[in-house]
Amino acid sequence: MIYLDYAATCPIDEDALLGYMEISKNYFANTNSLHDIGGDAYYILENCRKQLANLLGIQKEGLYFTSGGSESNFLAIHALLSSLPSSKNHIIAAMGEHSSIHSTIKILEQKGYEITYIPYTASGAVDLAVLENSIQTNTALVSIQHVNSETGAIQPIEEISFICRKYHLLFHSDLVQSFGKLPIPELSKMIDGFSLSSHKFYGPKGVGACYIHPRLNGKSFYPNTTHENGFRPGTVNTPGIAAMVIAANKANQLISEETIHYKKLRQLFLEKTKNYPSLSIIENKAQLPSIIAFRIKQVEGQWVLLESNRKGFAISTGSACQVGHQAPSKTMKALGYSDEAAKELVRISFGRNTSPLEVEQFAATLEEISKNIHQIK
Ligand SMILES: Cc1ncc(COP(=O)(O)O)c(C=O)c1O
Repeated sequence: MIYLDYAATCPIDEDALLGYMEISKNYFANTNSLHDIGGDAYYILENCRKQLANLLGIQKEGLYFTSGGSESNFLAIHALLSSLPSSKNHIIAAMGEHSSIHSTIKILEQKGYEITYIPYTASGAVDLAVLENSIQTNTALVSIQHVNSETGAIQPIEEISFICRKYHLLFHSDLVQSFGKLPIPELSKMIDGFSLSSHKFYGPKGVGACYIHPRLNGKSFYPNTTHENGFRPGTVNTPGIAAMVIAANKANQLISEETIHYKKLRQLFLEKTKNYPSLSIIENKAQLPSIIAFRIKQVEGQWVLLESNRKGFAISTGSACQVGHQAPSKTMKALGYSDEAAKELVRISFGRNTSPLEVEQFAATLEEISKNIHQIK
């Protein structure tokens, strides 16, 4: 099977796996235990925090390890809000955010927060005019991701940060799809809180991190907790964290090289498919090259996914789906597409081992699928 779904998850990097095994065997103690073996594990943990903070260009005091991107989004938003008076009870988020942001702000809505969702313009970026016009005297926080997982659109973090600073709003950004693919240190200075997920950059699953700027004094969602400096309960996953940091270091070193690789693969796919009559690529002004979103007109994305699977390719519809029922993509809706067109979204995403031959083979298979499906119809 040819895997073209790296934006969903990546296999673990070999060095990260070796690190995981080494730390699991030799530094397995609870980092909070007072004995020396606990102290050794704590030393590893704090060294990981320092290394990751350096890679991100932030103060290690605001960096907390979590179970992944979804939990980081939940905890970061709660902690950021806790640093503000309760009269600040309005949140602004982009319509195309990850489901973990939507579910977090849904809970907050039930608790009395007002929510405003911002659409995208045709360029794929959040509509900055709508964002600025949505700001109210009670606005607390803006949450807008860096890279959209369904289309690969890169959001204008600098401009969003400028607006947030102008109106004294907190800015949270989900960096899950961008860390390891784009340089973060310049951007991290413009954001008050952000989220990461290890398995998107070849680290193990079930590990992540979130950052809350230490000046904010954000409180933990969990009261009376000791681990992670009072931020998150539970025995810390030292092997997972160490493996994540190994993967993070490697991914960061490879950014320039891999970007060239992804641009070539993207160009090849666009070239091969340019004359497919019913295929339409969702192009964005600022685009992560490793993600390609497209639709075959009048064909549900799920059909394309299942046919591709039958022919040996693992791809995605961008959003979670069940057989027989596909929800419209939130990103496509945010871009102004109808429900029907939004269900046609298909996403392929490249990884470091994706080869030009695999891309050519998929392009050829897609031509076959699109001809067959239209004949059936
Ligand atoms: C943009 C974005 N945020 C958050 C997540 C959730 O990350 P995790 O799987 O680590 O919970 C994902 C995963 O698909 C994502 O793409």
